[in-house]
Amino acid sequence: MAAFPLQTFYQKKRRGERIAMVSLYDAPSARLCSEAGVDALLIGDSMGNVILGYDNTVSVTLNDMMCHAAAVVRGAKASSRPEVPVIADMPFGSYHGGADDIARNGTLLMQTGVHGLKVEGGNQGTLEAVKRLTQMGAPVMGHLGFTPQSSLKFSQTVQGKTAATANELLEAAKRLEAAGCFGIVLEVMPLEVAQRITETLTIPTIGIGAGAGCDGQVLVWHDLAGLSGGEPFRFVKRYADGYALLSQAARDYVSEVHAGKFPASEHGWPMPAEELELWKKESKE
Ligand code: KIV
Repeated sequence: MAAFPLQTFYQKKRRGERIAMVSLYDAPSARLCSEAGVDALLIGDSMGNVILGYDNTVSVTLNDMMCHAAAVVRGAKASSRPEVPVIADMPFGSYHGGADDIARNGTLLMQTGVHGLKVEGGNQGTLEAVKRLTQMGAPVMGHLGFTPQSSLKFSQTVQGKTAATANELLEAAKRLEAAGCFGIVLEVMPLEVAQRITETLTIPTIGIGAGAGCDGQVLVWHDLAGLSGGEPFRFVKRYADGYALLSQAARDYVSEVHAGKFPASEHGWPMPAEELELWKKESKE
């Protein structure tokens, strides 16, 4: 494995190359996306909504994150690009409980084998977490704009729509960079705000619902593969209709089992003819 996988983030920004990141939660998706050339894998706490059946990310625990982070790391390592950078979200409540708590939780998550951690927001508590984790040697990514862990307190989804709030986002981004972040996710904000932040910072920005002016983009695997069903958010582009494809596969399976067509002879292991004869004879006696 390359010694500094996250260096690619800085190098890409310097060279003007865009970064494609995917948020995902399991080993097979990690292997698939790594082999497809995805630049960085994120174990997002969006797993709360996407695969754990919650209606928010607040219910996701450190144990949930550790279990899925370890699976993604194993999937990435088994791929043809084992050096692909892997980043994990610190879940709600895991990085605001004081320096010792932050260090303990950050250590547990880093010990799953990820290369970096992500935290949300730009307030004093988050800045202290960034400093504590980076002092320990853990690379940290920030996340500004619509931050799902505090979405219960937002009155609207798009953040930074006024001059004052746009400026707050810009200042928060500068503080996160100064605190030591190696990159920042910008979620659901006006294109102009994301572009200005991107031009101001030396670290890369990764947008989701923040326009093409960011240094990279991130999408949730289930959204881009069309696995989620229902109406997607405006910022989502579905690159496949995975839901229809898999739903048809499930229907075909059910109807073949009901009709006695599956399993066919090639799906099983017949006994060698001689042994079968012997067994028939012995079992009669
Ligand atoms: O949890 C997540 O998947 C995320 C990305 C959407 C940035 O934070």
